Amino acid sequence: MEKDYSQLYSQRAREMKASEIRELLKLTQMTDIISFAGGLPSPDAFPIDIVNNICQELIVKDGKLALQYAATEGVTKLREVLADRMNRQGMDITHRNVLVTTGAQQGLDLIGKTFLDPGDIVVLGAPTYLGGTNAFAAYMAKMESIPLDENGMNPDVLDEKLHHLHRHGKNPKLLYVVPTFQNPSGVTMPENRRRQLLEIAYNYDLLVVEDNPYSELRYEGDNIPSIMSLDTEEKVIYLGTCSKILAPGLRVAWTVAPKPILNKLVITKQSTDLCSSTFCQYVAYEYIAQGYLDKHIEVIKALYKKKRDIMLASLEKYFPEGTTWTKPLGGMFLWVTLPEYIDTGQMVERAIENKVAYVIGSAFHADRNGINTMRLNFTYSSDEFIEEGIKRLADTIKAEIEAHEKRTRESPYKPDKDGIITGV
Ligand SMILES: Cc1ncc(COP(=O)(O)O)c(C=O)c1O
Repeated sequence: MEKDYSQLYSQRAREMKASEIRELLKLTQMTDIISFAGGLPSPDAFPIDIVNNICQELIVKDGKLALQYAATEGVTKLREVLADRMNRQGMDITHRNVLVTTGAQQGLDLIGKTFLDPGDIVVLGAPTYLGGTNAFAAYMAKMESIPLDENGMNPDVLDEKLHHLHRHGKNPKLLYVVPTFQNPSGVTMPENRRRQLLEIAYNYDLLVVEDNPYSELRYEGDNIPSIMSLDTEEKVIYLGTCSKILAPGLRVAWTVAPKPILNKLVITKQSTDLCSSTFCQYVAYEYIAQGYLDKHIEVIKALYKKKRDIMLASLEKYFPEGTTWTKPLGGMFLWVTLPEYIDTGQMVERAIENKVAYVIGSAFHADRNGINTMRLNFTYSSDEFIEEGIKRLADTIKAEIEAHEKRTRESPYKPDKDGIITGV
């Protein structure tokens, strides 16, 4: 029997749960399932030959630097090219506003570690990125959810919620948003909402955490300015990453923040990992500075747009009446809503028996709502498997609907004309 160490764990560790996505991913990797579950880029898109050449040249040319510790802030020339990219996307920063992190996930953790005491409140969307919620929950923060609509977070609902919290003496510290091609829903906040959201953040003295891994993966429509680029009061912390536009295995990402906050985050990071991998930072620098990244993004956009289109067409073709889904203009995910009586958490076993996987929607709700929803990733599976996977999923859903209809037919309790069950 395994020894039990639980009485030694901190309260914080005792409250942490294994990520449902990671658990599910393990399962999908072990079997012959078509998986729409992970948030993985297509491995076919990794620029293996170019990265190979860069690594070889790097070791010969700059090996003594690339294998050494780096400054906690990151390798200066990487910070400079990142600042330059951000400025081309409408920001006004220097490399001194940029902290290189080990994945954007570390940026979220550092923000939690720097700002959150137990019981502090973070306001976020429902649904929202599970890794964000987990990072803040690790510092024992309390989550307040704002339901999203097809345009992301609704500023009026946010305003009402903050008003309500303030009336009860609660002052949230952070507002966490993934405004562009959101993980998990794929929806995007239009510019007017971003401006309104900033006004609200100013009124309530909230820091906005803008998590933005997907905005460069736009397949149609016009770019929308980041929230940080619209900010006039230094109230935004921004997270970017190479994970979805180059390769997650490099673990190179960046946090942009006003200088006082950045300096504090650097101190926080020092006790976390001293610095992010110097070698990977050099690889990312060379990849960007030699002009490969922009070209690569064009290649993956074409690849992913095709996959998105195949998934949308397959949903249209196979999914039964009563189901709806978002139609994202970019990113890696779409969001499906099933009839209210279907619990996707219970259905997932049947889906896996039918050799297809998704992530249950409630995993992305801090309030555990959304039980009839699911997230589908369209970038990982090969083109041929997307249609087959959607067909299998549609069959799984149809079986749930039929079972529900049978139960209703056989039940002695019939709903009346208003749908109310009064008994026999
Ligand atoms: C919204 C969001 N933030 C952060 C991350 C983590 O990214 P990274 O690989 O840079 O840690 C992800 C990954 O899926 C994400 O979707």
